[in-house]
Amino acid sequence: MNTEQLILVGGGGHCKSVIDVVEASSRFSIAGIVDTPEKVGTTQSGYPVIATDGDLATLARQYRYFLVTVGQIRSSTLRTRLYHLIKSLGGSLPTLISPTAYVSQRALIGEGTVIHHQAFVNAGAQIGVNCIINTASLIEHDARIGDHCHVSTAAVINGDGVVGDHCFVGSRAVVSHGVHVAPNGILGAGAVLLTPTEEGGLYAGNPAVLKKRVS
Ligand SMILES: CC(C)(COP(=O)(O)OP(=O)(O)OC[C@H]1O[C@@H](n2cnc3c(N)ncnc32)[C@H](O)[C@@H]1OP(=O)(O)O)[C@@H](O)C(=O)NCCC(=O)NCCS
Repeated sequence: MNTEQLILVGGGGHCKSVIDVVEASSRFSIAGIVDTPEKVGTTQSGYPVIATDGDLATLARQYRYFLVTVGQIRSSTLRTRLYHLIKSLGGSLPTLISPTAYVSQRALIGEGTVIHHQAFVNAGAQIGVNCIINTASLIEHDARIGDHCHVSTAAVINGDGVVGDHCFVGSRAVVSHGVHVAPNGILGAGAVLLTPTEEGGLYAGNPAVLKKRVS
């Protein structure tokens, strides 16, 4: 099968996880990784770190496809900045879906979003751009996930739930049916959110409550 060349931007632990999805999905071959200057010349999972953020303009003349592969927990700022930089340079961000994930034909997934192994995206769900839908997470029917979000491992967004832009949903957190998470929200690992949040900030516990405002 012919594959297309892909550049991964960010070479840490999350990149390792994305590499596994790229290899399993066999649409792309990884041409190289972009990371900080001291990482150039090293490898991640056998792939070379070939350049830094400062070289993205040059890379965008050579390559078409890029994915943002830095992780996201407390802030989406770096992933968002890289997404807009790649777009401004004319790069394309594909949607990447693990062959072991289930994505309904009635779901919509934005560019640059990666659906990791064993994730489940049900009918009518909508997911924005540049999101991480991490391993074994569940996005139920008609749920909406904004842009630049990370729904982390085994988290559950129930039917009609809404996660605003720039949110992080921690491992095994649950958003109850129809509940909205305001933009810039952080749900701690294991949080059970039963009522809508009205502002960004850290929510944790069961039931989840506001623990910390985030400036
Ligand atoms: C989101 C997170 C990183 C925030 O960490 P933080 O900003 O350092 O938050 P703090 O440690 O200052 O905690 C603030 C308060 O919330 C509480 N809290 C934080 N996370 C909590 C959680 N998951 N469950 C219950 N309480 C939590 C803390 O005990 C603290 O309470 P206190 O003020 O009564 O002492 C952390 O909450 C978390 O859940 N980490 C796991 C992330 C994860 O799922 N990673 C998987 C990536 S794939």
